[in-house]
Amino acid sequence: MIKPDGVQQGLVGEIISRIERRGFRILALKMLRVNDEMAKKQYAEHAGKPFFNSLVEFIKFGPVVAMVVEGEDAISAIREMVGATDPAKAAPGTIRGDFARDAHDVTHNIVHAADSPESAKREIDLYFDNF
Ligand code: RTP
Ligand code: MG
Repeated sequence: MIKPDGVQQGLVGEIISRIERRGFRILALKMLRVNDEMAKKQYAEHAGKPFFNSLVEFIKFGPVVAMVVEGEDAISAIREMVGATDPAKAAPGTIRGDFARDAHDVTHNIVHAADSPESAKREIDLYFDNF
């Protein structure tokens, strides 16, 4: 998912290009506003943590781009392309390392990527009908 800060910074094309250039196939793509219920489901694993409310508010502040990506080891490879959670620690060449360096806050890290087949399935069901 390209989070609201990534969309606002005009990074939609750049991020999609990076994914395609790495040889992944985009199977579904959608721009949408995440509502409160979707946000809380997407981040259910973080419920109760100190940053949960700001995370939910952040993902709702503007449109996002959700996509389903397919390819060899897609989950780990995409997470490598995304970079470390904290943009200040993300390596150059990663999406967060290249575009989120000025973020003042860990929440503002441009992209989200599913971290397991289970979370990928849950998130696909959340954002795409009859996929
Ligand atoms: P994501 O789920 O968004 O792909 O990011 P991630 O796996 O790298 O990081 P995760 O641990 O799942 O955290 C989800 C999102 O919560 C925000 N966060 N804030 N203030 C904090 O300590 C903190 N820790 C995490 C980030 O926006 C992170 O992407
Ligand atoms: Mg995560």
